[in-house]
Amino acid sequence: MWEEKSLEKLIINGGKPLEGRIRVSSAKNAVLPIIAATMLASTPSRLLELPQLEDVHTICNVIASLGVKVTADETNDEIQFDASHLTSIEAPYDLVRRMRASFLVMGPLLARLGEARISLPGGCAIGSRPIDLHLKAFEALGATIEMGDGYVYAKAPNGLIGNQIYLDFPSVGATENVVMAASMAKGKTVIENAAEEPEIVDLVTYLNSMGANIRGAGTNIIRIEGVDHLEGATHTVIPDRIEAGTYLIAAAMTGGDVYVENALSEHLKPVVAKLKETGVKVEEDVDGIRVISDGHLKAADIKTLPYPGFPTDMQAQFMALTTIAEGTSTIMETVFENRFMHVDELRKMGASIRIEERRAIVEGVKKLHGAEVRATDLRAGAALVCAGLAAEGITKVTQLSHIDRGYDNLVGKLKGLGADIVRVDE
Ligand code: UD1
Repeated sequence: MWEEKSLEKLIINGGKPLEGRIRVSSAKNAVLPIIAATMLASTPSRLLELPQLEDVHTICNVIASLGVKVTADETNDEIQFDASHLTSIEAPYDLVRRMRASFLVMGPLLARLGEARISLPGGCAIGSRPIDLHLKAFEALGATIEMGDGYVYAKAPNGLIGNQIYLDFPSVGATENVVMAASMAKGKTVIENAAEEPEIVDLVTYLNSMGANIRGAGTNIIRIEGVDHLEGATHTVIPDRIEAGTYLIAAAMTGGDVYVENALSEHLKPVVAKLKETGVKVEEDVDGIRVISDGHLKAADIKTLPYPGFPTDMQAQFMALTTIAEGTSTIMETVFENRFMHVDELRKMGASIRIEERRAIVEGVKKLHGAEVRATDLRAGAALVCAGLAAEGITKVTQLSHIDRGYDNLVGKLKGLGADIVRVDE
C-alpha cells in the first residue's frame, strides 16, 4: 500500500434507492495484462474503449519506461502502443510498488529481450501475495532467476524453451505471465492447473490475433505453440465483471431497480446466484443484467474461489450486503489470507461482524448508519461505497486513491442512478 497524501473524500448521503441504467467499462484486470502484452509485438497495437483508471496509467507508465511509445487520442480511451524498440529491461520500484500487476511485464520482456529486472511488486495490502509461482514457471521455461536489492533479475540469453508447467495454485497473474512468455518460446508449453478467469481468455484472444498459437484458455490446461514473432493488433477488452457486480450489489442494498448494461451473465454466475439467494429479483439478457430489490435481503453464505467460483474481488461488496440481510451469513475467504480489512470500517457503520480466521460471521442489522471510513484497498473501498449508499445519514469515504485504481467514473455513474454522492477535497 502506498502513502495516501490526498485529502479527497467521497461524501454520500445514503438511503436513496438507485434507479436507472448504467454501463460498465472494460475490465481492469483484462486491460492490464493486455497492455503488458502489447510489448510482445514488433508493430503497433491499438486498444479501444479503455477505462479511465489509475492502474491503467500506471501500467502505461511502466511500459513507457521500457521504451514502448504510448499515444492516446484526446479522450484517452483509445491508445496506440508501439513496442518496436524496447530500450530497457528494468521496471523500477517507484512504478512497480504502486501496482502488483506491473510484474506482468516480466513475461513479455523475457520473450522479447531475454532479460528482465523488476522490482518486487506492491499493490493492495490484501495478503503476502508472493510471486514464487511466476518465477518457478519462468525457470521451467529455461530462465535463470536471481534476487537482490529488492529486485528480481531473470535471464534467458538463448531464448525461452517450451515446457510442461504445473501451477501449484491457479494464479491469475502467473498464468498470464507464462502465457505471454511462452507465446514466443521455442516449442510447446503446456500449463496445467492454469487459472480459468475470463480475463485470461481475453488476453489469449488478443495474443492469438497477434499471431500467437494458444489453445485451451478458459480451461485449466492451456497449450501454447511458440512462434517467432508477433504483430500488433486492434482489440476491445471485455466488460468488467467486478465493476458490474459492484453496481448490482449497490442496487440490491438500496432497494433499487438498476439495469447494468454490458454486464455479461456468463461471467457473473456465482454473483447472480448469490444475489438471488438474498431475495432480490435478477433478470438477465444478452445486453446486461437488471436487479430489482425491495430492500429486504436475506442472509447468504459465500466462499471465495478461483473462477468459476465466487470471486474474491466481490467478497467485500457482498459482505457489505450481508450486513443488512436478515439472519446470519458466513463469508469465507480462501484466495487471499488478509482480505478482511473492510470489516473494521463496516463495523464503524453499525455492522455486526465477527472474524474466525478466514471466516467472517455477519449478523444482519436493520440499518447501517453513516460514518467516516477508510478505503483500505480497492474492493474494500467499493464495499464501503455500497454500504454508504444504503446507510442512513452521511458516510465519508477517505483514501480514494485505492478506489481510483479500479472504478471508472464512479461518482458520475452513481449520480446517474440518483445517488447523492460528491467528491470533495477538504
Ligand atoms: C488477480 C487480480 C486480482 C484478484 C486475483 C484473484 C489482476 C490485475 N488482479 O491478482 O484483482 O483479486 O487475481 O482473483 O488481474 N500466489 C502465490 N504465488 C504466486 C502468485 C500468487 O502464492 O506466485 C497466491 C496469492 O498470494 C494469492 C493467490 O495465489 O493468495 C491468488 O493470487 P493470483 O491469482 O496470482 O492473483 P493476482 O494475479 O495477483
